[in-house]
Amino acid sequence: MKNTAAIFVLGAIALPLSLLRGQAPSAESRSVWDGVYTEEQAKRGEPLYRKECAACHGDMLTGGESAPPLTGGPFLANWNGLTMGDLFDRIRKTMPQSNPGRLTRQQDADILAFLLSVNKFPAGKTELYRQSEMLREIRFESAKPAPRNKREMIQWSQPQYPKISSRFPERRIVR
Ligand code: HEC
Repeated sequence: MKNTAAIFVLGAIALPLSLLRGQAPSAESRSVWDGVYTEEQAKRGEPLYRKECAACHGDMLTGGESAPPLTGGPFLANWNGLTMGDLFDRIRKTMPQSNPGRLTRQQDADILAFLLSVNKFPAGKTELYRQSEMLREIRFESAKPAPRNKREMIQWSQPQYPKISSRFPERRIVR
């Protein structure tokens, strides 16, 4: 009889714990809307852009006679669904067109941060990575996704709901 009680108590504790784990938000991949560069970095990128890219792509990134724009609908549509890694590699391997690969990874990342800021993607607290593999984990999404808060509220409110100290944990599964 003692054992049964012990098992019940253990189960009562383990159940909400497993619920907690099961419902914790999965490490959702990030997108350009999640603040993947800093304002500081974009500021570093601006003069680099002006020096290395503007002659062809224009001061306002709107494109030139032969070079395509790096802002606006067609540009965003072009890269929508790809990743920051793809865009980074594209720049690293082919730009500046006159002398590709001359810039360092850091310089390319800074230019890319400037490019994101001009395209009105929000700045955040961490700088844009310099490694393609890590940049590949940041999705390029042209349209702003549904407010994140809402999604997070739904995900987080449920695990917080069961309180392990309660005497009737099994009832808390009911929603
Ligand atoms: C000498 C002119 C020239 C310079 C300088 C130059 N580009 Fe380009 N860029 C082009 C041309 C032309 C294209 C389109 C043809 C191609 O892909 O090579 C292009 C294409 C691109 C694309 C692809 C755009 C798309 O939507 O497909 C990106 C991104 C880009 N350039 C970024 C840069 C960056 C960043 C710099 C500065 C580091 C830079 N370019 C410097 C001429 C230039």
